[in-house]
Amino acid sequence: MPSTSPVALFCSDLDGTLLGRPDATALFRSEWAKLGEPAPLLVYSTGRLIQDAMRKIREAGLPEPDYYIGGVGTVIHKTSSDSVLDAFSKVLDEGWNRDGVQKVLEGFPDIEEQAAEQQHAWKSSWFWHDASEADLARLDSALKDAGVKAQIVYSSARDLDILPLMANKGNALRWLCDHHDLSVEQAIVAGDTGNDSSMFLVPGVRGIMPANAEPELREAVTGATAFPASGECTNGVIEGLQHYGLFPASGS
Ligand code: GLC
Repeated sequence: MPSTSPVALFCSDLDGTLLGRPDATALFRSEWAKLGEPAPLLVYSTGRLIQDAMRKIREAGLPEPDYYIGGVGTVIHKTSSDSVLDAFSKVLDEGWNRDGVQKVLEGFPDIEEQAAEQQHAWKSSWFWHDASEADLARLDSALKDAGVKAQIVYSSARDLDILPLMANKGNALRWLCDHHDLSVEQAIVAGDTGNDSSMFLVPGVRGIMPANAEPELREAVTGATAFPASGECTNGVIEGLQHYGLFPASGS
């Protein structure tokens, strides 16, 4: 049974989810502005790093969020204090060895490193085109054999993020809910690719999948509460927020 708790937090991916349909962005912005006080916390959770995400938001005209979760769940930035939450970053340090990751990945000739601006202390990002389950399992074994504790997040049949064990969008969301004394039943999430699956899989969370959601996400979240919208990107998000009663139904 999906949660019926009042919504206290909405956490959305950006590219392919809240971004991508400029015509619908204005509608999202105006509907969000109409929510009564206290409005739910607005959180953008993206594979982009913080400055890059901020730039995209300004360009797109999306409302400013309360928090950014950047780098696939590896950094939490609070807008009101313009600061990174160090307490979260410390959690990620446990067992993390970025140089060890680098060494193992360099042993895979088909894997190409992403640009320097996509990398940071807790995010090692690469391109691996059309990697199969078996390829990913091979990489996982190589990391384990090298004694490197890390998790693999693969998205869009191309993007390969190697992250600390505790780092993913779902864990960052849980941490933020705890930080605000909220239960995850009070949260709605939206996303379209593999790196979003950990948010949908937080037990009790309500999810929204726009029509353009990748098969990798649909497969990964089978059994979770994930509203399948018929609209793409922002349109799908708006439809989902209507479905969960946060936004008024269209026409009303
Ligand atoms: C964004 C990031 C990239 C990452 C991808 C998937 O595109 O810029 O580094 O690999 O999201 O998480």
